[in-house]
Parts: sequence; structure tokens; C-alpha cells
Amino acid sequence: MELFIHELDWRVRIFDALSYPTLILRPDRTIIAVNKVFLSKYNVTEEEVVGKTCHDDVLPTHSSPKIPCTTDFCPHLTAKESAKTRSIQVQTKDKDGNPCWEERVFSPIIDENGNVKYIIESIRDISRVKNLEKKYSEMRELIDKVVQSSVSGIMAADRSGNIILMNEAAEKLFGYSILDANEVNIENFYPAGVAREIMRKLRDESLGGKGKLPITNVNILTHNKEEVPVEMTAAIIYEGEREAATAAIFNDLREKYAVAKKLEEAEEQLAHSEKLASIGRLAAGVAHEINNPLTSILLYGNMMYEALEADHPLSENLRFILEDAQRCTEIVKNLLAYSRQAAPSRAVFYLNNMVNESLALIRDQKFFMNVNVVKNFDDHQILVNADKNQLCQVLINLLINAFDAMEHKGTLTLTTYRDLENHRAFIEVSDTGCGIPEQNLSKIFDPFFTTKELGKGTGLGLSMAYGIMKENQGSISIKSTGPEGTTILLELPEEPVTDEFAFVSIG
Ligand SMILES: Nc1ncnc2c1ncn2[C@@H]1O[C@H](COP(=O)(O)OP(=O)(O)OP(=O)(O)O)[C@@H](O)[C@H]1O
Ligand SMILES: [Mg+2]
Repeated sequence: MELFIHELDWRVRIFDALSYPTLILRPDRTIIAVNKVFLSKYNVTEEEVVGKTCHDDVLPTHSSPKIPCTTDFCPHLTAKESAKTRSIQVQTKDKDGNPCWEERVFSPIIDENGNVKYIIESIRDISRVKNLEKKYSEMRELIDKVVQSSVSGIMAADRSGNIILMNEAAEKLFGYSILDANEVNIENFYPAGVAREIMRKLRDESLGGKGKLPITNVNILTHNKEEVPVEMTAAIIYEGEREAATAAIFNDLREKYAVAKKLEEAEEQLAHSEKLASIGRLAAGVAHEINNPLTSILLYGNMMYEALEADHPLSENLRFILEDAQRCTEIVKNLLAYSRQAAPSRAVFYLNNMVNESLALIRDQKFFMNVNVVKNFDDHQILVNADKNQLCQVLINLLINAFDAMEHKGTLTLTTYRDLENHRAFIEVSDTGCGIPEQNLSKIFDPFFTTKELGKGTGLGLSMAYGIMKENQGSISIKSTGPEGTTILLELPEEPVTDEFAFVSIG
């Protein structure tokens, strides 16, 4: 075997002292020297390696099919051609067969004419770095997954407020995509002044510590310029002492607020029902007590009236007394109806028919004179199972209230519809009347609350309606009211259509 070592300058021998396995190659890839570390690391002798080319099967790493040693990518070749240092990272196996990573650096040695004379190949074990890199990237992937799958919106911005991170929940909450991030600044995500206030609090050490914002309720601004209440926490991310970025976590409060509001309404309703129930019991007691004396007044009064001559001077006064006593009887009757505990006598009927019948029952045609009645009925016949007489009573009171509010001129719209999914039936009575003033809204279902002049209303209509609707598993509510008019909504459970009703024509 030819010896090539004499070709090397003595200075090249110092490479023997290098701690990395190192080879010296000619531009034609012939290995002319290897250092001692190389021999011991790969467990080969000088004779086995020197004189061969790096394409020969000289050591595990060289024979690895993963080494990009094709003509195009051969780092030896590119180092030779460019006369510059080139390197590649190679995944291979160590002498025990364990996977490892090597970095192979090819450094050309140039002669006085500028030609590449030799190439020094130095091999570094970078397995540790590579393993750390792998662990780091696995950890990053895990953190990414945790951030992305979080139900809370998570967002980070750099020092200038440019968005650098936005998870899916934040995209959904704010209505922006991370792809819009270049065009929006963190200030766009809050109503005017809020972002600054958050930064001020973040820097205030007395609130949650330096760079930390404890749970705070604020409004954010979505892409559609809608203000949404959220609960947020935030932190400044420091690089040394320097503020590098800010990160924040957001939780949408809309659902929580909606639940709280519903709860509050339910509590209010409960209090109202309790109040009505106690008034009802009281009213029932009083009505019973008054009923008997009233019956005597009417009986003896009528006897007196009949005994008097028609032109008797007291005859007219007595008639007034009897009329008012009769009115008292009506009130007592209503009171007893309002407080009555008896179950409604139910039957299945068509809602639209009942609305038509209630209209027909208002005999006093002066109500309709200047009122345009619009029927906006659901095309489908809606069936309900309720006490029809009671519901007529409710509706007649609503119609009279509407006529009164419009002072008998305007438009009265009667609408029926249903919610198929939840099996509910609805009647809406809308008028173009004066509306109910805000301060009366909480009182109109109370017994005896009336704004009508003495002798015109008793204030029992809506409180009776409230009780009747409840007894029939329904409800009554004010859908809207204002100077443009009032809409009262009645809701009842819808009865499923049975064979008996399936072919009945629309009446
Ligand atoms: N459609 C409406 N528009 C404006 N105000 C209304 C309307 N419906 C009811 N109100 C107000 O609610 C009050 C209470 O109504 P409710 O039907 O209980 O009693 P009333 O009509 O005054 O008397 P009653 O019905 O016993 O003859 C009314 O006096 C009126 O002030
Ligand atoms: Mg009324």
C-alpha cells in the first residue's frame, strides 16, 4: 500500500492531537490520513482506511445510505468546488448499533495558487444536541397543543402590540384569524383606552405583582365592533429586565351573565307569584265576606225599587245604588275567579278559532269603530289543550286593554305562531297605543293596579290573566312596550295533532 503521509507538511500532524475524529482527503476523495481519535472511535486501523476513498466501505458512518454523497450533494465535492467549508448532519449508528447524530465538516486547504489541495473532514458527535432539540420540539408541540385546545382564548403580542400568538378560542372570541394578525394591533381588540389601562395595571406591582394582572372583568372589541364582556388574566413576558411581550387569557362571560340574568328573573317571578298568591288568598277571604251582604243589598234594594212609583224622587238614587252594588258583585266574582284554586276544565281546540271567537264575543262594536284589526295567523292550525273559556276571558281583557290604550283608533294585530322544536304555541296582541310607562311595568300584573279612571277598570284583568295562564301551563308577558305601542305575548304548550284533528278543516 502506498504511503501518503510524507505528502503532508509536519504542521498537519497536529491534527492528531485534535479531540474530534478527523480525516485528511485529497480532492479525488482519497483518504491520506486519519487521526488517532478517529481510529479509536471507529475501531479501525490506519491500513484499513488510508488509501481508500470516502466512498469505500471504511466506517459505519461513511457507508450509511443516509449520507448525501451523490454527486449533487456530496459535501466533499461542494467544499472542493467552492473552496469553502461545507457541513452536513447525518443520522447514523454508533459502533454498538445505537442511533446517533454526527456533524461532518469539510474544510478545504488551499495551496499558493488558490487551488484546493486537501480537504479536512472533521466528525463531531452531535447526538446530545440533537436529542435536546428533539425534546425541545416535542415540548413545543405539546405546548402548542395545550394552547390550541384550551377553551379559554389565549393571545400574545410583542412590545409594539403586534399579535404573535392567537389560539382557536381567541380567534372565535375576537372574530379575527391569526392570518389577520399583521393588520391588527392589540389596541384594536379593546374599546378605546382599555389596552392602555391593562398595561398600566400590569406594570403596577401592587396589583398581582410585577408584570401580572389578576382576574379582571373587562369588555373586549370583536371584529364586528361588538363589545363582549370577558374575564381575563394577563402577564408581561420579560427577557432579563426588558419587556419582550404580553400574554393574556380570556373567558367569555356572556353565557355566565345570561344564566345570572335568567336566575334573577326567575327569582323575581317567584317573588311576584308569592305576592300574588297571598293577595289572592286575602282577596278570596274578603270576597266571601262581602258576597252575602251584597246579595242582601241587591235583593232588598230591588224589592224597594219595584215597590216605588216610577216617578218617585228616590227612584233614580236607588237605581244608582243598585247599579254600583251590581258592579261590586262583578268585582267579587272576578276576585273569586282570580283566587280560585280549581283546576281548569281542559279541552283540545284550535288556537286561531279561539282568537276569532274572543273577537266576536266583544259585543260593544264601538271598540272597533276606528281600529284596524289585522289577523296574522299561522298557516298551520295550532292545537292547544287548555280551558277555552278562561283563555277567551284572558284574550278579551287583552283586547279591551289594547282598545283602551289606543283610545279606539289605530291598528290591532293578532298573531299566532308556534315553536315546533319546543312544542309551544303563541298568541301576540299588539296595539299602536300609548305604551306602558317603565315605572308601571312591575305593577301591571298586581291585582287592583289600574290607571283607568274610577269605574272604568278594576285592575283585575291582567292579574287574572296571569293566574289563568299559569294554571294552563302557559305564561303571559310583555314582549315590548313603548310610545309606538305594546305587544303582549301569551304562551301555551302545543298539543300534538291526533287522528281526530288531522282532517278537520281550518275554521
Ligand atoms: N295594551 C296596553 N297598553 C297600555 N297600558 C296597558 C295595556 N294593557 C294594560 N295596561 C296597563 O295595565 C293596567 C292594568 O291592566 P288590567 O287589565 O290588569 O286592569 P284594567 O284594564 O285597568 O282593569 P280591568 O281589566 O280590571 O277592567 C291598565 O290600567 C293599564 O294602565
Ligand atoms: Mg283590563
